[in-house]
Amino acid sequence: MNMASMDILLMFTVMSISVGNAKTGFISLKCEAENLGQYGQQSLLKCFINAPEDTDILVVTWKKASRTLLIFNRGDLKKEQGYSFAEPSWNITNMNVSLLITNTAVEHDGRYECMVATDRGVDNVIISLKVTAKYSKPTILFNPEPKTQDTDGTLTCESDGGYPKGELRWFHERNRELIDDSPMEAKQTESGLFQLSSKLVLGRRSNASEYTCSVFNASGGKEEEATFKALNTPKPAETGFRKELDPATKIVAPVVVIGSLIAGLLLALLIYRKRSRQARRYSTTPLMGDHREFLKSDVEEGKVMINAK
Ligand SMILES: *[C@@H]1O[C@H](CO)[C@@H](O)[C@H](O)[C@H]1NC(C)=O
Ligand SMILES: *[C@@H]1O[C@H](CO)[C@@H](O)[C@H](O)[C@H]1NC(C)=O
Repeated sequence: MNMASMDILLMFTVMSISVGNAKTGFISLKCEAENLGQYGQQSLLKCFINAPEDTDILVVTWKKASRTLLIFNRGDLKKEQGYSFAEPSWNITNMNVSLLITNTAVEHDGRYECMVATDRGVDNVIISLKVTAKYSKPTILFNPEPKTQDTDGTLTCESDGGYPKGELRWFHERNRELIDDSPMEAKQTESGLFQLSSKLVLGRRSNASEYTCSVFNASGGKEEEATFKALNTPKPAETGFRKELDPATKIVAPVVVIGSLIAGLLLALLIYRKRSRQARRYSTTPLMGDHREFLKSDVEEGKVMINAK
């Protein structure tokens, strides 16, 4: 039996249930109105039947527009590939009729209808799934064209693999000021994901040397960004470069000075120890008369020195 003829049979089932209820009491289908799905991951459309404990489920259908994705009818389960009950060992006494989508794609975005028929009555609910996909970190390409008196070339920023349609925006790196005279293009690939691209013409009179391109998702949240440093533009770039080097030299110099101070101190200490040890040996040996004890303590001191290093 195909899905269409099962649909017709279903109508009769539902009608007969409504006419002659076997049990008393009511049922209601409670669903999550807005479900979120990530591209390439599993998605869950959550629905649960509120019903007295001894209720049996006769029919469950999950549809998207006019397409039937899953239909359970009196023991007979049919489903399209990629859809199943979320409960792995679902049976007619399990009121959790949530739908699981195994590999979420852009086409899964939209409205779904869940309908249930039990031996206590029927109910149906319409819910939605919002699919999102993260945009890639933007790439920025520099093109020396067009080279006129006013321009230094063009930057092209690209980011793809996102959904729904997002936005690219350019900023001056230093003051984070928005540059808003750059048009954006959005192309949708076969999979439904968006490819965004935006061109920025570099003005020769602008003294900025770093440009940031940020990608924003459909709800306005910043997802990723990339920065282009225009090192070849004469003045601003040069000062920027020197400033970057400064902190490093500031760190290296003290390290060298302190390091040589420590080395010098250690050397001085070693020489001093050696001399005092020799002095001690000469002065105490005749009195104590026991050489071995002294040798032993010398070795221990040596150990301490090595450890201290
Ligand atoms: C229904 O089952 C799914 C999958 O096992 C689970 O994630 C969800 O929380 C369940 N919902 C309820 C209301 O029990
Ligand atoms: C948009 O990005 C923000 C910040 O990264 C994030 O919190 C939010 O969930 C994203 N929204 C969508 C629809 O992807």
